[in-house]
Amino acid sequence: MAMRNVTVVGLQWGDEGKGKVVDALAGACRYVVRFCGGANAGHSVTIGAEKYAMHLIPCGVFNPGVMNVIGNGVVFDPAVAIGEIDGLIQRGVAVGPENLRISAAAHVVMPYHRRQDALAEAAAAGAKIGTTARGIGPCYADKAMRSTAIRVGELADEAALREKIARIVAIKNTIFAALYNEPPMDAVAVAEEYVAYGQRLAPMIGNTGAMLRRAIASGQRILFEGGQGAMLDVDHGTYPFVTSSSVSACGVPAGAGVPPGDVGQVVGVIKAYTSRVGAGPFPTEQDNDTGEYIRRRGKEYGTTTGRARRCGWFDAFAVGYTAALSGAEALVLSLLDVLSGLDELKICIGYRVGGRLLEEFDPTVLAKAEAVYETLPGWKEDLTGCRKLAELPSAARAYVRRIERLIGRPVGFISVGPERTANIIPNATIEGLR
Ligand code: GDP
Ligand code: IMO
Ligand code: MG
Repeated sequence: MAMRNVTVVGLQWGDEGKGKVVDALAGACRYVVRFCGGANAGHSVTIGAEKYAMHLIPCGVFNPGVMNVIGNGVVFDPAVAIGEIDGLIQRGVAVGPENLRISAAAHVVMPYHRRQDALAEAAAAGAKIGTTARGIGPCYADKAMRSTAIRVGELADEAALREKIARIVAIKNTIFAALYNEPPMDAVAVAEEYVAYGQRLAPMIGNTGAMLRRAIASGQRILFEGGQGAMLDVDHGTYPFVTSSSVSACGVPAGAGVPPGDVGQVVGVIKAYTSRVGAGPFPTEQDNDTGEYIRRRGKEYGTTTGRARRCGWFDAFAVGYTAALSGAEALVLSLLDVLSGLDELKICIGYRVGGRLLEEFDPTVLAKAEAVYETLPGWKEDLTGCRKLAELPSAARAYVRRIERLIGRPVGFISVGPERTANIIPNATIEGLR
C-alpha cells in the first residue's frame, strides 16, 4: 500500500518540538514542505553534538534524497534564508537547487517589513503582541493589500523590481515619517540588495505547487512541515495575540498548492506541558517556581529571539480543540523528560468563565478563563535514557495514557530528549517512523 502524505503541525503555542519530529519522519518522504509563517519559526534539530536552529529552510535537509520546498504560503526573507543556507553548507550540510526549491509565489519580506513590525510594536504600548520582529505581520498585510507586495518570482526581473521597490519604499517612507517621525529608507540600496538576492537564489525559484502536484500524481510521499502552533493561528487562535497565517493543517492546501485530500496523515505535536512566547492569554501559565523549574529544565528560551518562554501545565482542553481542528490522527508527545522531579502534575481539563464551566472550547474567551485541573502523581526518575514504553516509570506511563484519553487520539511517538534518537515509539500509529 502506498504511504500517505504526512502533515506535522503544532497543537499549542509553537515550539512543540516539530523540527525534531520532521527530521525523524523525513527519511520516509521525498519532499518536505513549509506552508506557513516565515523566519518567525525556529525549529531545532539535534544530531549528536550538532544543534541546528532552522528558521526558513525545511528540516528535511538532514536527510539525503529529500527535496525541501518553501511553499507559496510562506513569507520569505531572502537575507535570513541565504544566511541559513551558508551556515548549513559551512557545517557540511548540502543545500542547493538539488534539494531546495522556493515558490515563485511566496511573498518577500523586505527591510521595511521588519522595521514596520518593530515600530508598530514599540508604539503599541499596552497592546503589544510580542512579535518576533521578523516582519511577518507587515508582509502578510501587504500580501492581502496586493499593490504593495513583492513575490519571490519578481526578484528575477531586475528593471521591474527596481521600479517597484522605488514606488513601495516611497509609500513606506511616508508612513515612517508621518506615524513614527522616522528617517526614510534608501530605495536604491534596498533594490541593490534584493537584486543580488534574486541572482543568488534564481536556480532554486520555481513553480513548487506544480512540482508537488506532479509528485502526488506519481505516488511520491510529501511531508508538510507546520510552523508555529494552532493557538497562534490567525483565524482559530487567541486573536489578536496570534501570528498572521493559517498554521493548522487547514493551511496546508492553500499554503502549498495541493488539494485538501492530499494533506495525508495529520500528526499533532504537543509538549508535555505548555509554553508560550509573546503576549496573550495563557490559562495554565505558572508564573511561579513551577514555571521556573520547567523553563530551566526545558531550556525554554526562544530559538528565534532568545526570549524566556512562559511555561505552565498541559492544557488538554485547548489541545482537544486544536487536535480536532487539524484532524490529528496521531500525537507526538515531546519533552516528557522535562517534567521529572515534580511531586505532582496538573492537567487542565476545562475552563471556568464567570463561575460557569465552559461546555465547548472557545479561543475568544481565554482572557477570562480560569483553568480547571486534575492532578496526577509525578515521578523522580530521569527519562532521557528510556527507549521503550516499559522503561518509563509507571507515573509517566499513566500521564501519557491520561493525555491520550483526554484528547481521544493515540500518542505514536514520545520524545525524551532533544537528540534525534531520544525517542519511544509505543505503537505503529504514525506511518513512516522507523
Ligand atoms: P519547534 O519550533 O516546534 O521545532 O520547537 P523548538 O525547536 O523551538 O523548541 C523545542 C526545544 O526543545 C528545542 O530546543 C529542542 O532541541 C528541544 N527538544 C525537542 N524535543 C525534546 C525532548 O523530548 N526533550 C528535551 N529535553 N528537549 C527537547
Ligand atoms: P515555531 O515554528 C512560538 C509568536 C510570537 C508572537 C506571535 C506573533 O518555532 O513553533 P509574529 O512574529 O509571528 O508576528 O509573532 O507569534 N510566534 C511563535 N511562538 N513558536 C513560533 O514558531 C512562533 N512564531 C510566532 O512569539 O507571540
Ligand atoms: Mg520553535
